[in-house]
Amino acid sequence: MHKITAKARLSPNVTRLDVEAPRIAQIRRPGQFVIVRRGEGAERIPLTIADADLGAGTIALVIQAVGKSTQDLVALEPGEAITDISGPLGHPTELIASGRALCIGGGVGTAVVHPIAQGLHQRGVDVLSIIGGRSKEWVIFEPELHRLGKVIVCTDDGSYGRHGFVTDAAKDELAHGGINIVYAVGPVPMMRAVVKLTKPLGVRTIVSLNPVMVDGTGMCGGCRVDVGHQTKFACVDGPEFDGHEVDFDLLMDRLGTYREFEQQSLASCPEGTCKIGLK
Ligand code: NAD
Ligand code: FES
Repeated sequence: MHKITAKARLSPNVTRLDVEAPRIAQIRRPGQFVIVRRGEGAERIPLTIADADLGAGTIALVIQAVGKSTQDLVALEPGEAITDISGPLGHPTELIASGRALCIGGGVGTAVVHPIAQGLHQRGVDVLSIIGGRSKEWVIFEPELHRLGKVIVCTDDGSYGRHGFVTDAAKDELAHGGINIVYAVGPVPMMRAVVKLTKPLGVRTIVSLNPVMVDGTGMCGGCRVDVGHQTKFACVDGPEFDGHEVDFDLLMDRLGTYREFEQQSLASCPEGTCKIGLK
């Protein structure tokens, strides 16, 4: 059992839970994730380890409540517990050792960018983060990323920071030159747009993919993606890949396959509880 020690609402549908998991806190590396099961028989949910506190023996999980299972998870309160947490899973991020890195986080993907920026900062890499949300209230992890380097905040509606998508700001920063690598995590159209900017410039770009995961062990095939014309499993071969090699069209198609099931699951939620993140 993993006790919840703290809970915070980061945006209208994103919640942070700090959870006791001392062994995982000790050995986790940037880019790795866990699979969480709230209780017996509950759905298994893959979640990035957004942060860890070695002293407290806790890890931070950031959950976007878009379906019944995630809604159930964020309903937990401090003092309550999650039954199973498996991990850390996946390959750690390929971190450069020096130079300048551009870390781009779209919406809830910013929570995934945070440990990458932490790892880069610890190595002495100059970190520039560009993070974005639909409006001010959807921007997350801004103070945490400020501790690691310069941050440019963008909002779709211009309610805070720069008006526009994160890719607009990224285009300007890339034009200045001097960026050795880009890490981009967020909605698939955002990552695809980042890759469209960096590929002609030849700037290496790492993206984190979030296909549907079931077992997290490479056995079920649920998380298969096409990278460099080869089938890869995001859970064991990723979740991070060379963005210039990813087939984003196929990823979009596969994510769309499950939309109907998600709608049905959401429809079973009590009125007004699960609908906020639905597009
Ligand atoms: P969102 O739709 O609110 O977008 C967040 C930001 O991404 C926007 O503010 C904008 O700056 C940028 N963006 C969005 N669409 C863009 C486009 N077409 N071109 C350029 N930039 C664009 O994001 P959200 O609701 O926080 O996240 C939802 C999606 O992110 C879900 O589909 C979820 O599955 C995915 N996600 C991905 C990962 C991952 O590991 N890749 C992790 C968590 C969530
Ligand atoms: Fe089953 Fe990756 S989640 S193969």
